[in-house]
Amino acid sequence: MKQRKFYIETYGCQMNEYDSELVAGILEKQNYNPVDKFEDADAIFVNTCAIREGAEHRVLSRLGQFKTRKETNPDTVIGVLGCMAQNLKEKITSEHQFVDFVLGPDAYRNLDTMMEEYNHDEDDEDKRINTRLSRHEVYDGMFPSRKEGINAWIAIMRGCDKFCTFCIVPYTRGRERSRSIASITQEVKRVVEQGFVEITLLGQNVNSYRYEGKAFPELLEAVASVDGVKRIRYTSPHPQDIDDHLLQVMRDNPKVCNHIHLPVQSGSTEVLERMNRTYTRAQYLNLVEKIFQYLPNVGLTTDIIVGFPGETDEQFQETVSLMEQVEYDSAFMFKYSARPYTKAIEFDDTVPEEIKQERLQTIIKLQNEMTLKNNRKLIGQSVNVLVEKDSKKSDRQWMGRTDENRIVIFNKNGEAQRDIVPLRITDAQGVSLFGEQLN
Ligand code: 5AD
Ligand code: SF4
Repeated sequence: MKQRKFYIETYGCQMNEYDSELVAGILEKQNYNPVDKFEDADAIFVNTCAIREGAEHRVLSRLGQFKTRKETNPDTVIGVLGCMAQNLKEKITSEHQFVDFVLGPDAYRNLDTMMEEYNHDEDDEDKRINTRLSRHEVYDGMFPSRKEGINAWIAIMRGCDKFCTFCIVPYTRGRERSRSIASITQEVKRVVEQGFVEITLLGQNVNSYRYEGKAFPELLEAVASVDGVKRIRYTSPHPQDIDDHLLQVMRDNPKVCNHIHLPVQSGSTEVLERMNRTYTRAQYLNLVEKIFQYLPNVGLTTDIIVGFPGETDEQFQETVSLMEQVEYDSAFMFKYSARPYTKAIEFDDTVPEEIKQERLQTIIKLQNEMTLKNNRKLIGQSVNVLVEKDSKKSDRQWMGRTDENRIVIFNKNGEAQRDIVPLRITDAQGVSLFGEQLN
């Protein structure tokens, strides 16, 4: 069979990174090899994100560049994958005739057929699009092709049933469904054999995991029992599904990392209610307190949206005060973006763009100050850092992460990648920590 080359570009969340690895696995079986430049590829894929409008714009302008490859090499296959494919469907195929096909996040098993038939009659839109959502697809028995590294992503559940009113995910990724513990642990064993030492379990609502009566904490224990796994992380949980059992497992199992990404979205109970987040400010803060009781040194991070429809200055100030109270290690902060299908798109009390921008700047500045303040408190403390790679600035320094997911830079001294090294924190600057070997 003729050797061919593929290029894949991934936007959005870690689940998309994982899905791109699944797609790479399918392509490699078909005798395609990965390349780093789209100009060299016989098949170009873009795995897209629809979470905010900006993400969609970036992809649409990128598609224009891929078109040039098709103009010089008409046999090039161009496929649009992922959440935008699901969201925009015909809009992509009709407005971008050079796109051969569009596959949604539950349709990758059809990639083989699409590749065989990619020279579809351009008018036959239906044949170029497969975005059927599934209640069952978890891609069991498929093997993602991972680049060598430290951390392996493993999807354990897909979809979301929470329907936060701002979020398109339940519409692009469909209903919640989980994979069996047996199939997950089998994948974990496989990646450990390939040299990965850290596992990050993924799901749109990772802690809603449920399979034949087994819940997320039991899955964590099963994954921790696999020999060779050094660290386990997970993302993203929903605060509603964090219970005592999960916190106990995190406390008692040294392999499960001491970090929780706990998206709050807003500090105002009224806004949270309009977002359908299912908790109040007080309930969220109680949960934070409980988390600190179980895990006193936990690394806490969050997601925040500013400028949700109807958000008043006072309500925004409640987000600011909640951030000051919790003192997150870091936060992903976003301006609200109206998305199709969602309930919030019907809310007409929109916040003007300048105010959204101003609020975003305010919390970014606040978070940076707090990250530095938190980091300064760590100076002098001992931490265990898993060595990941050369630091960006110098190949004489390592970059690694603490159990709490804090990044530390330190001078090399005979360590290897994948080692867990005890360090003392010596300095904090900007959002970075610096360390030196103990003893
Ligand atoms: N606008 C802005 N941010 C959003 N997010 C999800 N939907 C939107 C939207 N419509 C953010 C949330 C979520 C993160 C993954 O993306 O904070 O936790
Ligand atoms: Fe979107 Fe809410 Fe589901 Fe997260 S929990 S994917 S924010 S709907």
